[in-house]
Amino acid sequence: RVLRGRPLDLAGRRVVVSAGGTREALDPVRYLGNRSSGLQGYALARTAAARGAEVTLVAANVALPDPAGATVVRVESAAELREAVLAASGEADVVVMAAAVADFRPAARHDAKIKKSDGEPEPIRLAKNPDILAELGERRRAGASGSGGPAGSAGAAGPGGSAGPAVIVGFAAETHDVLANGQAKLARKRCDLLVVNQVGEGRAFGTPDNAATVLVAGGEPVEVPLGPKEDLADAVWDLVAARLA
Ligand code: CTP
Ligand code: CA
Repeated sequence: RVLRGRPLDLAGRRVVVSAGGTREALDPVRYLGNRSSGLQGYALARTAAARGAEVTLVAANVALPDPAGATVVRVESAAELREAVLAASGEADVVVMAAAVADFRPAARHDAKIKKSDGEPEPIRLAKNPDILAELGERRRAGASGSGGPAGSAGAAGPGGSAGPAVIVGFAAETHDVLANGQAKLARKRCDLLVVNQVGEGRAFGTPDNAATVLVAGGEPVEVPLGPKEDLADAVWDLVAARLA
């Protein structure tokens, strides 16, 4: 069976996709956040379901309707996103971290609303958030101990296996030295694929189109020209399916 021209090449596969952008609370009414719309992550979830996958979508502050065929877990902060992704990834074949995770959070969350006072405002102190993508890669490396496989191998992992997801996909937004920064990030975070977007220069958030270079561990980069976010999603799933095969 083929749905809207797509192969069912992810049938029987469990995939986890994170989407949107985290919000880090400063007080009960304010947060630090980012401009991620969630459109790319939702396109990934929708297309994976259309290709037969069992999809868990971890959505951080996304104002979009639930994609057909996906189980949606809604989260707000990086800490909540981490919990949801790690819980779902234990059984997953593939994890795609499309969410924009805040690198920092306010070091303290005020219980009461911060009030204006007569003096100068206090500076906001920040604390570092855990890197979820790096943690997934590190867990897989540790869990696969003894197998000796490189980070890029889709070898021993599988559903319920302790070795972690067979394929881990990261995203990166870079403003300069896009490919060099991307290659370093791919290696540092031990992921199999890294979808690198160039940001800035008038490229808008929340648009339906995207262009990217997909860096492949142990392989040649794949250029995906500007087009609908579903096309980039399908290009990612093509590469994922090839690594799962
Ligand atoms: N990511 C994550 N946890 C974080 C920060 C990022 O899991 N605390 C994931 C994102 O979901 C994305 C990838 O890491 O898939 C790359 O995010 P990016 O912000 O480009 O990389 P950083 O390592 O945070 O580096 P920098 O922001 O300094 O470029
Ligand atoms: Ca970051």
